Amino acid sequence: MPVVFDEQASTITINTENTSYQMKIGPCSILMHTYYGPRIDCDAGYAVSYRDRGFSVNPYDSIENRRVSSDTMPLEYPCEGSGDHRAPAFSLRRKNGAVGCDLRYVNHSIHAGKYSLPGLPAVYAEEEEAETLLVTLQDQSAHITVTLQYGILPKLDIITRAACVVNDGDETVFLDNAASANVDIIAGNWELIHFYGRHAGERNTARTEIGQREIVIGSRRGMSSHHENPFVILAESDTTELHGQCIGMCFVYSGSFACNVSKDAFGTVRSVMGIQPEHFDYPLEPGESFQAPEVILAYSGSGLGHLSHLYHKVISDHICRGPWRNARRPVLINNWEATTMNFDGDLIVSIAKKAAELGVEMLVLDDGWFGARNTDMAGLGDWVVNEKKLGCTMGELADKIRAMGMKFGLWIEPEMVNEDSDLFRTHPDYAMRIPGKDPALGRNQLVLDFSREEVVDNIFGQISKVLDECRADYVKMDMNRPIVDVYSAVAEYQSQGKILYNYIKGVYRFMDMLLERYPDLLLEGCSGGGGRFDAGMLYYCPQIWCSDNTDAIDRIRIQYGTSFCYPLKTMGAHVSAVPNGDTKRCTPIHTRGVVAMEGTFGYELDLNLISESEMEEVKEQIVTFKKYWDLLHNGTYYRLTDVMKNRSEAAWMMVSEDQKEALVNIVVLDTTGNCPNRYIRCAGLDPMAQYEDEKGTVYSGNVLMTIGLPMPLKYVPNTQWREFAREYDAFQIHLVKRTVSA
Ligand code: GLA
Repeated sequence: MPVVFDEQASTITINTENTSYQMKIGPCSILMHTYYGPRIDCDAGYAVSYRDRGFSVNPYDSIENRRVSSDTMPLEYPCEGSGDHRAPAFSLRRKNGAVGCDLRYVNHSIHAGKYSLPGLPAVYAEEEEAETLLVTLQDQSAHITVTLQYGILPKLDIITRAACVVNDGDETVFLDNAASANVDIIAGNWELIHFYGRHAGERNTARTEIGQREIVIGSRRGMSSHHENPFVILAESDTTELHGQCIGMCFVYSGSFACNVSKDAFGTVRSVMGIQPEHFDYPLEPGESFQAPEVILAYSGSGLGHLSHLYHKVISDHICRGPWRNARRPVLINNWEATTMNFDGDLIVSIAKKAAELGVEMLVLDDGWFGARNTDMAGLGDWVVNEKKLGCTMGELADKIRAMGMKFGLWIEPEMVNEDSDLFRTHPDYAMRIPGKDPALGRNQLVLDFSREEVVDNIFGQISKVLDECRADYVKMDMNRPIVDVYSAVAEYQSQGKILYNYIKGVYRFMDMLLERYPDLLLEGCSGGGGRFDAGMLYYCPQIWCSDNTDAIDRIRIQYGTSFCYPLKTMGAHVSAVPNGDTKRCTPIHTRGVVAMEGTFGYELDLNLISESEMEEVKEQIVTFKKYWDLLHNGTYYRLTDVMKNRSEAAWMMVSEDQKEALVNIVVLDTTGNCPNRYIRCAGLDPMAQYEDEKGTVYSGNVLMTIGLPMPLKYVPNTQWREFAREYDAFQIHLVKRTVSA
């Protein structure tokens, strides 16, 4: 039984195979959080310090016991108004304007299987794989019930959390904050790792001491954003890739979010994660409920690498769905970087033809195929095929592509509208705008009010007609601007929080409808690259375009940051032309291939325009990808260098579950004359085994994991030193375990 209730000790302990998570019903029924770490079999409550602390108030019913204060206790779901002055997870405003409530433990129940959240993405599991714990908290005066939801996947060492709020009273109340999860850690020297970025530069890693302060990271953009990813890690200061304690919090949601991380005056670290509370202001009518989205928690006692493995597994097998989640994805060619919107049907066919000759398996037609979409000034909202531009119908174009033995895919951006579109001319109220204010434009477009069902239905009706006609195998669903003018023409009360929440639920409904109508569809998420790369989107799209930046060297860092939470097979990655459009950097096509194989793998250029020898390389790359895809995508992934710090080389590897096979990937980032010896320290191998590479060199598992793999060199004629690892060279070394006869 994963959940154990010890009535005498008043503890509720959640056990997974290797971890325990404990809460304790404390004095005055205050629900405390006492422990999250390696497996225990006892009451950890002795670690809570009850002391009379000045300026920390006491509950009315503590009967003057000044040692009881929610201001100093570690709490499971802290609420504003209980006397806890730290960052709250829950904040309620009453009709008369008073802010405050005091949630206390009432009861709990345990259920087989994993709860689900209607209309929201969440971890799913078979009934025998999971258990659910529901803990009820109540504020008697405000007539509010909060049910804390816990999903436990014991074998995966995963615990999920969510919260559902019900208004049991007869007055409207307003939620100012309703976070999904809080983790209080009683002691330790903890740091925060978060993933910040920008368009074309997503998910850099930053590691910072928490210290006596509040750190708030998040997004106010109506999308999870390029700027901060809804995933954080709390790590002890000595935690590395292979050693030490760390806790992950992954938000399964694609809208604005916040994570407030702090250390209080007495050393307790707190991390609250949920929907962005700024202007949340969610009205809850009598009898109504609000469901906060899910957070996936994981604890690793053996470093960041293991934490990533826990997330990779749960996301691959319990978030991603459908026939593609663990299948090899078709090697695709996308026309965007080759043509932008300047194409006609013949050009697309010629790109497809060369790609098919070289072994590419799917053509994706990107932006520009509909309405008056020849620049980004017009067309969004009118999902009518521009047959004049294509010179044929979409069905006919798809047939031509299929006749070459390829699959066919299409780009869409359903949430957006240009003012210059028939949709906007007919339904101006479908676009979000504040009456009397000029709306902010992003890429010359406005955001459709996806909080309204009829808007979602209109767009779905238009797009599904085209998909029916061409029987698309794949759809790339884009979203190319943040949300500013939050206003819904039909809402009675313009609560920014409610509109944005319902907007995201509208996006989820749109994708649900797509997948229901086209169950075999491969859906790729996108938002100006990786602006909505989150576990919420991955519930619908088993892959997401990682970044608009396809420069191989920049991509190494972007994919490195992404890999902390998300599996490699979810990262859309393509080989593109050089000099790269974003950086003007030139890298060898081999290197671009090695980097793209860290993700889904495909091409984004006109292959007619590359040299004969590069075409040969493309053919080889596709063969290599097909040969190693299972290892690349389903092997255990190890980051071997910290690419935020190590400017000399980047390396990563994948090891098969049985440790019989591994693929080491190395890219030289920098070189120097008469270069000192360089070694790549491997991980995850069988220490006592011998491994052999393709050239017949034999290595010991232990030596590879202590000294490392000597940096491979290439023979370069007519140079002083002859053997070099040149800047931007890349190597893929396939290691196979030798069977040693007795
Ligand atoms: C976004 C995407 C690109 C491309 C363009 C098309 O920027 O990230 O890959 O699809 O839109 O407009």
